[in-house]
Amino acid sequence: MAERVLVTGGAGFIGSHTCVELLAAGWDVAVIDDLSNSSREALRRVEELAGRGLRFVEGDVLDAAALDRAFGDGPCAAVIHFAAKKAVGESCADPLGYYRTNVGGTISLLGAMRRHGVRRLVFSSSATVYGDPAPEACPLAEDAPRLASNPYGQTKRFVEQMLRDLAASEAGWHILSLRYFNPAGAHPSGRIGEDPRGVPENLLPSAMQVAAGRLPELRVFGTDYPTRDGTAIRDYLHVVDVATGHLRALDHLSAVDGCAEYNLGAGRGVTVFEVIEAVRRASGREVPCVLESRRAGDAVAAWADPALAERELGWKAERDLDDICADAWRWQSENPAGYGT
Ligand code: UD1
Repeated sequence: MAERVLVTGGAGFIGSHTCVELLAAGWDVAVIDDLSNSSREALRRVEELAGRGLRFVEGDVLDAAALDRAFGDGPCAAVIHFAAKKAVGESCADPLGYYRTNVGGTISLLGAMRRHGVRRLVFSSSATVYGDPAPEACPLAEDAPRLASNPYGQTKRFVEQMLRDLAASEAGWHILSLRYFNPAGAHPSGRIGEDPRGVPENLLPSAMQVAAGRLPELRVFGTDYPTRDGTAIRDYLHVVDVATGHLRALDHLSAVDGCAEYNLGAGRGVTVFEVIEAVRRASGREVPCVLESRRAGDAVAAWADPALAERELGWKAERDLDDICADAWRWQSENPAGYGT
C-alpha cells in the first residue's frame, strides 16, 4: 500500500508543484489548505497532471478539528508544512498576524502530529533567515549567521528554533527544514504556476506580467548596488527543482535524528537586469522598465552554497534561468488570468 503524506498549503505555488511530484513518485497525498492565497483549481490541475486523485480538506492549520480531518484515520508517514504567509511588507504592517499564522500554525500542526503519532516533518523555511548578508559572505552555507530583518523572516527563524528545541526535548522526531532561495518558474506543462493575488511583489511574476502586457512597466528597485551591473543579486531556483527537493528530503528523514537544515538554491547569483534579459529571450517581448531607488529591506546579494543538500540529500538544481523563464512564460501566456479566480 502506498504511504501517505499530509501537505499543508498544498494548493499554493510550491505546494501544488510538490503534490504533482509526490503523486508521480507513488505517494498518497492529503492536502489541507485554507485557499486564502491559493486556488482549488490548482489542485484539480495537479490531479489531472498526475492522473491520480488526492484528498483535500479546506481549512486553516490553526483549526485543530480541520487538521484532524486532514490526518484522517489511516497511518500518515510524514507531513510537509508549507502553509504560511510570505509577504515581507505585509508582515511589517501586521506582525501579529504573521506570528499567529506562521508560528502559531506550526505549534497547532505539531500538536496534531502528536495526536496522530506522526514525528516526521519537512518544514518550508527560507533564505530570508540569513537577512541582509554581506556580499562577501555569499555563497551562503547553512551556518551563516541568521539575522532575519523583518517579521516574516523572524517567523521562519523562530519556527526553525522551535523545531530544534522540540527535537531536543523528545526522542523520535525526524525534522528537516529547507531554506529556499528564490523559487520561480512553473510546471513545464503550462498547467500550474504562480498566481499571486493583486499586483505581484516578486521579480519574476512581475516581469512576466509586463512582458504579457498585463502591467505597463517593470519597476527596477535599485541600480546603484555594488554589483556587476548595479542591480541586486539573487539565486533563482526552478519550482520543479524545489518540489523534487522535498522528495529527497522525505527520503532522507529517517537518517535525521532530531533536526537538520538544508539550503535549496541553484548556487548561482543572477542580477535583476540579467533576469529581465532572460524574460525578453523567453517571451520574445519587450519588458519596459523604470529605474527606481532601492526597495527598503532588500539585500544586495544572496545566493546559496547548495553543497550540503547535494552531498546529503542527493539533490541539486537541474534547471537554469532560461528554463525558469521559458516555463513561467508558458504558464503566463496560456493562463493570462492565472487560475481565473
Ligand atoms: C522576497 C522577500 C523574501 C521572500 C521571497 C519569496 C523581500 C525583501 N524579500 O525575496 O523574504 O522569501 O520574496 O516570496 O521582499 N525587484 C525589482 N522589481 C520588482 C520586484 C523585485 O527590481 O518589481 C528586485 C528586488 O529589489 C530584488 C530582486 O528583484 O533585488 C528579487 O526580488 P523578489 O523576487 O521580491 O525576491 P526577494 O526580495 O529576494
